Amino acid sequence: MSKLGKLLKRIYCAVLPKSEDLEEVLSLNAKADLAKLFFFADKTREKFCGNGIVLRGIIEFSNFCQRDCFYCGLNKNNRKLQRYRISKLKLFNAVKYLVSCGIQTVVLQSGEDLALDAAWLGDLIKEIKSNFNIAVTLCVGERKARDYKIWRLAGADRYLLKIETSDEKLYSSMHPRMDFKNRLNCLRVLKELGYQVGSGNLIGLPGQTLKNIAQDIIFFKRNDFDMIGIGPFIAHKHSQFAGKENGDVGLVLKTIALTRIVTKNAHLPATTALGSLDRDYRLEGLKCGANVLMPNFTPQAYRKLYEIYPQKRCVNEPVGACNFCMDKMAKKIGRFIDYSKADSFKGRFLI
Ligand code: 5AD
Ligand code: FES
Repeated sequence: MSKLGKLLKRIYCAVLPKSEDLEEVLSLNAKADLAKLFFFADKTREKFCGNGIVLRGIIEFSNFCQRDCFYCGLNKNNRKLQRYRISKLKLFNAVKYLVSCGIQTVVLQSGEDLALDAAWLGDLIKEIKSNFNIAVTLCVGERKARDYKIWRLAGADRYLLKIETSDEKLYSSMHPRMDFKNRLNCLRVLKELGYQVGSGNLIGLPGQTLKNIAQDIIFFKRNDFDMIGIGPFIAHKHSQFAGKENGDVGLVLKTIALTRIVTKNAHLPATTALGSLDRDYRLEGLKCGANVLMPNFTPQAYRKLYEIYPQKRCVNEPVGACNFCMDKMAKKIGRFIDYSKADSFKGRFLI
């Protein structure tokens, strides 16, 4: 077996992989080496997740945010951005449309909107769950444990709260007035409440090292997350990181591949950010470990206002267009779109 083959096998078999091993793979650049890595990751994906590409329809229902994360276009200091909140009726109708397209998971995402009332969202979740047989995923940031509980009791199934970077120092340097420990605590509470929990990181953050990324992958493994979203950092001109270099797509793909090899059966999306660089790299993501796509179902009028980063994909497409596009993507690589709810592969949610 080649040296790289042995290295990959060691990473695959480890209870917890060694940081140095991961860093060595992250620094590979030769074409043949990358092909080997991606092939290994793709096989791991096939073995643990099958050939279905699962869909998560996303609705971005508010772009108000109380935070000022250095990388994000929704940061509260961005006064150029017109803010919106979608009414409950419009939101419900967007969900109805998503269901009519055959999608069985809705991701309700917003900035950390201080005005987001827990009971309001709880009622909406109840309404969705009593009308449609779909999974509800929330992505609304750090909240009090009692809010997470209200939403879980209302029927929410999953929660995404990316760590962005697992390095406390790096995290603090780009998240003013936020507390890394509180984020970890939120993740713990979410898990205890029985949510399927998603994490993830940004690749190419200013100041981030390969070691940081290796540690992120170890963090994902340690916490056994159900879902992990990995995407490139893309500089936004109305953020603190304006003018910084974007994340490197090759490094994103290597991180997805390694995360697949290490975590085996976590749901890994080919993120929208990966589709928003100089061209669409989501297909490459799907070929090196990813098994999820996230079609956008935000009503057209609001899409361009949810500008986390510039040149975001599918902003001008009509609602529902993503579905066809994704079918095409799947066919191109001999896979198929799996329209089921696609719960966690971790098997903790079968009761
Ligand atoms: N580039 C890429 N992704 C970003 N996100 C936030 N800002 C950026 C950016 N500038 C990602 C974060 C967040 C998700 C909703 O969007 O990872 O969790
Ligand atoms: Fe949205 Fe292709 S995924 S149009």
